[in-house]
Amino acid sequence: MLAAATALAVAAAVLLAAVSCGSRQPARHLVGFSQCNLGEPWRVAMNADVVERARDFPDLEIVFADAQQDNAKQVADVENFLRQRIELLMISPNEAKPLTPVVERAFRSGIPVIVIDRGIAGDGFTTFIGADNYEIGREAGEHIAGILQGRGRIVEIRGLPGSPPAVDRSRGMHDAIAAYPELQIIHAPVANWLREEAMSQMEMALAAHPVIHLVYAHNDPMAIGAYLAAKAKGRAGAMRFIGIDALPGLDGGRQAVTDGKLDATFVYPTGGREAVELAARILKGDQVPHRVVLKTEKITRANAVGGR
Ligand code: FRU
Repeated sequence: MLAAATALAVAAAVLLAAVSCGSRQPARHLVGFSQCNLGEPWRVAMNADVVERARDFPDLEIVFADAQQDNAKQVADVENFLRQRIELLMISPNEAKPLTPVVERAFRSGIPVIVIDRGIAGDGFTTFIGADNYEIGREAGEHIAGILQGRGRIVEIRGLPGSPPAVDRSRGMHDAIAAYPELQIIHAPVANWLREEAMSQMEMALAAHPVIHLVYAHNDPMAIGAYLAAKAKGRAGAMRFIGIDALPGLDGGRQAVTDGKLDATFVYPTGGREAVELAARILKGDQVPHRVVLKTEKITRANAVGGR
């Protein structure tokens, strides 16, 4: 009985294969997309953007991997894609250095590579796509200098140190406030992009510093975490909070600005849609720029409502 069923299944599979060979479907290109984690809302939004845009490119077959913020897992994910013989790699690396060798290896073996949002070291990729994090940091610094009128005590909550946006967002902001000697960064803990870590770091900052005028966090989840910690101690009203990302939706940064929790945030586009478009162009044989810079925008209460 079992043997007969198996034979039937094999025959059906052979028939199916024959039919699909004969029907001359356009060749599909296998694309691997290695995402550094899906624990953060901004990453979930990026994957959703990729899925949505890919609907318009039926000849792209995109396979996804989630590295769960683990560099070693992300290296293994890319190696696994290479074994599956992907034709193009899209990757948003967790940290630059640990991911550089595997990305370069893929690129040198002839597989086009699109790096999204967080860079790698060196030049071994086809194209990088993302917003200018130094510029965002600089604009944030200028905004801070404006609202604090050049004087105040600032807590800076930093993203994962090995990811380039954390470095650039910090550098840009420091450069902008360098012109204001009475603006002081009094505490600069690392919270690895995560809201919960920012909450506990902010609790320590609050305990150590009786006067804090402003919190600059490298993303909105950390800014909101800091706000919640300050609120729990009855101190949120005495300080301002600045974040980055400006995601739409009830838990997003835009809403937090509308609600008065954040003073400002900056649009940090995911690049998911544009990455799919670039992948399609590269696979067609088009030349693409080595660097694609996405637009950003400062969001305050004046323009927080609406937007994508
Ligand atoms: C999500 C995230 C965003 C941030 C970006 C920087 O992982 O932390 O909030 O803007 O990464 O790479």
